[in-house]
Amino acid sequence: MLIFSVVTSVCGVEKKFWSIFHPGAYEWMGMGIERFCYPPKPPIFSWLVAAILMMFVSFVSACDISHCTALFSSAKDAEKTELFMKLAEKQAEIPHCISLRTYIDCLAKERLRTLCFSDITYNGLLSGLKQKQRKRKCSADPQAAIYDEDIMPPIGPLPPRSDRMCSFSGHQKYKLCGLFGDPHLRTFNEEFQTCKVEGAWALVDNKHLTVQVTNDPVSSTGAATATSKLTVIIKKNEDCAADQFIMYTAQTDNLPGSFSLGQTHYGPEKSVEIIEKVPGKSVEIYLRYIDTTIKVQQIGRYFTFAIKMPEEVLNSSRIKDNLELCVQGCPNNERIDYNKYFSEVRRTNHNTKMSLSKATEICRGASLVDFYFDFCVFDLLTTGDENFTAAAYQAWQDLIELDPELRKTQVNRTELPPDTSGGESLMQTKHMYSSRILLLSVLLCLFLSIPS
Ligand SMILES: *[C@@H]1O[C@H](CO)[C@@H](O)[C@H](O)[C@H]1NC(C)=O
Ligand SMILES: *[C@@H]1O[C@H](CO)[C@@H](O)[C@H](O)[C@H]1NC(C)=O
Ligand SMILES: *[C@@H]1O[C@H](CO)[C@@H](O)[C@H](O)[C@H]1NC(C)=O
Repeated sequence: MLIFSVVTSVCGVEKKFWSIFHPGAYEWMGMGIERFCYPPKPPIFSWLVAAILMMFVSFVSACDISHCTALFSSAKDAEKTELFMKLAEKQAEIPHCISLRTYIDCLAKERLRTLCFSDITYNGLLSGLKQKQRKRKCSADPQAAIYDEDIMPPIGPLPPRSDRMCSFSGHQKYKLCGLFGDPHLRTFNEEFQTCKVEGAWALVDNKHLTVQVTNDPVSSTGAATATSKLTVIIKKNEDCAADQFIMYTAQTDNLPGSFSLGQTHYGPEKSVEIIEKVPGKSVEIYLRYIDTTIKVQQIGRYFTFAIKMPEEVLNSSRIKDNLELCVQGCPNNERIDYNKYFSEVRRTNHNTKMSLSKATEICRGASLVDFYFDFCVFDLLTTGDENFTAAAYQAWQDLIELDPELRKTQVNRTELPPDTSGGESLMQTKHMYSSRILLLSVLLCLFLSIPS
């Protein structure tokens, strides 16, 4: 400011001098310090003229800040990365603060300060940035993080801009969750559960997205439930998704190939996209900015669901106390101990919609192993609907498509787990509750087995 007022006062004298020779003609003189001279006009106008002049002048002056501007632009592109978010979190500020600080740090370098000391654009920019910094409550710590081209890759050899926009660049370590059948759940923590969860439940509910399923009874008699409705809500993200939430809803026999408003993609370079794999049967939703894939399929009358998310996105986006089946698993009172159910069936062979031997045979024939074999047998016993075999098979295919490494974690087991229940009565499953006949037959067995 001081420099500027000195300059203007010099100009004032000079103007008087020039106006003697060119009355009325206050022309900009072009070089050196004279470039700040302009006719005495209202201050706002003067500033405007000065700013416009400076834009021209900056081409000829040695005060070249273009590399700082480019650096700032790259930093802005990197704001969505986990690295930025983590660094910002450390200072309790928003990621944009790192970009601002990077810009300021670059501009304030000794060499530029010397070259630009009289440049209004430069000085205005710097004070504007500092003001913004205060307004955004950015950390004032001079040691706080800045964007460093050498350490933070995106800028490095400058890949095409489109590659960098709304792309996830965190750790490629993923977690998978799936839900299918009666319903059976594979949690992010690799637990396998069979649940009742009738009604609406959230599978995922974090800062980025919510996935909710509605499970209905499979038939009016049995207590088996399956997923008949699925809703995905992608939370507002002005830069990479939409300035409103984006919704996708599928219901039995209505699996659309687009989001609720009919669009198939959002954000720059389709950073949110839905792809119809098989019309009416199978879709995939991909969120590039968090490298998250969601697969939804209808098999028979019900849905299978699978999701793959980076672990660090998962960790950083949790909302405290939210119940997410994919994270916590089903609540204890909603779980069905299917091993107990198998023991019970082995013992009594009653009240199943299909015989144990036939169910086992069908599931083996479908190349199902390990947990998926168990789930297939369970669903056939409880519903008799062979479509659930395809659901179990597809659920597994979806997961290994999302992460081929999972194949290695599966055991080649095509027998039900050994009976470990020791003969205690098994009244815990919903299927038992659902059948008075079975209860009676068990009581009858017990009665008959009492030594007289
Ligand atoms: C299995 O699914 C087909 C349609 O995909 C359906 O027509 C059939 O009724 C289903 N089976 C049962 C037992 O519900
Ligand atoms: C995510 O959180 C879990 C448990 O809190 C932790 O073990 C894991 O290392 C975290 N992963 C990442 C990538 O932050
Ligand atoms: C799994 O076991 C069955 C027989 O128990 C065998 O036929 C099959 O080849 C095995 N599969 C693999 C991948 O090892």
